[in-house]
Amino acid sequence: MASFKSSSSTITTFKFHLGAFLLLVGVASAQLASNFYGTSCPSVLSVIKSAVNSALRGPSWQVPLGRRDSATAGSVSDVNSNIPSPALNVSGLISAFSNKGFTAKEMVALSGSHTIGQARCTTFLTRINSETNIDSSFKTSTQAQCQNTNNFVPLDVTSPTSFDSAYYRNLLNQKGLLHSDQQLFSGGSTDAQVRAYSSNQGAFRADFANAMKKMGNLSPLTGTNGQIRTNCRKAN
Ligand code: HEM
Ligand SMILES: *[C@@H]1O[C@H](CO)[C@@H](O)[C@H](O)[C@H]1NC(C)=O
Repeated sequence: MASFKSSSSTITTFKFHLGAFLLLVGVASAQLASNFYGTSCPSVLSVIKSAVNSALRGPSWQVPLGRRDSATAGSVSDVNSNIPSPALNVSGLISAFSNKGFTAKEMVALSGSHTIGQARCTTFLTRINSETNIDSSFKTSTQAQCQNTNNFVPLDVTSPTSFDSAYYRNLLNQKGLLHSDQQLFSGGSTDAQVRAYSSNQGAFRADFANAMKKMGNLSPLTGTNGQIRTNCRKAN
């Protein structure tokens, strides 16, 4: 009840201000006009446009089309032996990607995909609770979000919905969420590349796009191989 009262008084205050504002505007002009802010704020449209563009900008690359679906379901052992685990250390990450023909530099660039998206608490709580290379306020706030271990937490604490290089700056500040993320900056051979991407977003985005193209070319099924599924979720 108390909170309802205070929010309703906030709304009243807001309405009052809005009313006063509309009244003032009303004196200036009673109609909508595309140049309404022409003198009071002439750059408003270009400011809005560039903010929206920068929010929507994903790196981009040409995707070769024509790949077909697998005729079999993946097996658990296939997945476990091919998909890198978040428990891997930096040597394990390097060799998992090397098994697919990627350099350590490409592995670091591809990991930057964790600049967006979320992870379930169960995938990183061991690191958050017990590792020492972790920022203490990041530790506390992440633990608070994991009261329920089925919750999801953003992989990039700084800017979870922007495809930027904040992921790498987080690593410099010991704010990597997954054990595997922080491994990329933990005194090992990939530290220098993390540092480079942290201050060069252009290089990250260019290398990321190239590595994504390369990943898309990992033995795709074409021609008469595989099948075209009628239900994407299962083999015909
Ligand atoms: C370097 C080795 C990698 C490891 C160990 C790893 C591990 C993980 C884990 C554990 C999650 C959370 C999954 C969940 O809780 O549901 C995750 C999420 C994610 N990963 Fe990775 N990943 C790696 C590389 C990559 C790469 C190469 C990409 C793409 C280029 C990628 C893209 C993503 C995205 C977008 C999410 C968020 C998914 C969502 O929000 O639904 N990851 N990763
Ligand atoms: C990395 O992990 C592998 C496999 O668990 C282990 O054999 C190796 O000793 C680890 N390397 C380091 C530097 O901790």
